[in-house]
Formats: sequence, C-alpha cells, structure tokens
Amino acid sequence: MAEINLLDRLPPANRNVAQRGAEKTAADRAIARRFDREFFDGERRYGYGGYRYDGRWLPVARRFVEHYRLPPDAHILDVGAAKGFLMYDFLQFLPDATVRGLDVSAYAKEHAHAHMGPLIDLGSADELPYPDNSFDLVVSINSIHNLPLARCKAALREIERVSRAHKFVTVDAWRTESEHQRLLDWILTAETYLSVEDWHRLFAEVGYTGDCWWFIP
Ligand SMILES: C[S@@+](CC[C@H](N)C(=O)[O-])C[C@H]1O[C@@H](n2cnc3c(N)ncnc32)[C@H](O)[C@@H]1O
Repeated sequence: MAEINLLDRLPPANRNVAQRGAEKTAADRAIARRFDREFFDGERRYGYGGYRYDGRWLPVARRFVEHYRLPPDAHILDVGAAKGFLMYDFLQFLPDATVRGLDVSAYAKEHAHAHMGPLIDLGSADELPYPDNSFDLVVSINSIHNLPLARCKAALREIERVSRAHKFVTVDAWRTESEHQRLLDWILTAETYLSVEDWHRLFAEVGYTGDCWWFIP
C-alpha cells in the first residue's frame, strides 16, 4: 500500500478552522451527523454550506484514471458518494465504465447530480452490498471515519473484499499536535480520527492493502 495524495488537483478549500472550533456546538454536530439537507445544503456550521456540482472533482477523476491505468470498461465504486459528483466525473473520462456509489444519505441520493441518483445505493460502508472482487477501483474519500472504530475497521475490510485491484481511502488524520488540534476544531461528523501512525497500524490489523491519504484541515 502507498500513502499518496491523489487529491492534489482539488482547488483549495475555504475553511475558517479557528471560528469553527470556537463556535460549533454538540447540537451542530448532531444535526451534521444526520447527513441530511442541513449537512449538504444548509449553513456552513452544519457541513458543506451548499454542495453543488462545480467540476472540482474532474481533475481528481482524471488523476485516478491515469494513476491506476483504469481500462475503458472499468468497474468503479465510490463509498460515501454523496451527490455522485466524482462518479459523474469518472464517466467523463471513461464513458464505458460501470460506476456505482454508496451512501447513507437519502437526501444526497435524491439530490444527486445529473443521472447519478439511480447509481447510488443507500447503505453503510461497513456492509457493502456487492460480491467479492466486483470492482477495479474502490474509492472512499472523507467518509469511513464517520463510523465508530469497530465499524470503521469493518468498512476497510469491506473495501478490501469488494475490490479486485485498486483501493484508495482518505480519512481524518494528523501528524503533529498542532494538526491534531486543528482537526479537533474542525471536525463535525467524524467518530474515528487517528494519527497517521495509528491509521497505518489499523490498516495492517484489518488487512487493508490499498492506498491512502489524509484529510488534515
Ligand atoms: C464529507 S462527505 C464526503 C463526500 C464525498 N466523498 C466527497 O469527498 O465529496 C461524507 C460522506 O459520507 C457519507 N457517510 C456518512 N456515514 C457513512 C457510512 N456509514 N457509510 C457510507 N457513507 C457514509 C455522508 O452521507 C457523506 O456523503
């Protein structure tokens, strides 16, 4: 497995970490964790503050296609697909690919981009409704850390199980104490956030052999 930043073509995000840390409440976190309208399209204090398709995932999709040398008819799964933006963008480069998404959010599926809604399955990352070895690439970006530790481990085992080749996950992490503090200030929904070292230990424990990168605000 490799630690590799395949998200390096995303535009820089607008995050006021200190303000979030000072203002967020337990009630805000509870609302965010419903992964409903407020999280995606409500105020910034509950999540995205409006998550609309703007093409930001296009260069990321291209990076995945090139890095993993995906074939034109690749089978790709996005775990925590939200509104299907990345799924849609994979299809811009690989129109003959089979793309699926999975998410806990009925709101996101209902408000999915273009024709992605029917391709998004409602469910949780720790119980993937797909046979073993179904996908050439399974990606999960900023999603499985929303599960508590035991279920997060199960999600990693599931990603490993349904992939026949490549896997890539991004999770909340820190390398230094100041990064740890920024993460604590920023997070709304995560239940499992670990140091980079501890994530590597966890990956080894559950037998996750895919690639990884970190969300560090
Ligand atoms: C921060 S968003 C990331 C969405 C997308 N991957 C992206 O990077 O834009 C987290 C996503 O994880 C989903 N989610 C939360 N818990 C989940 C679970 N147990 N299984 C699958 N998806 C989950 C949420 O509904 C949300 O769409």
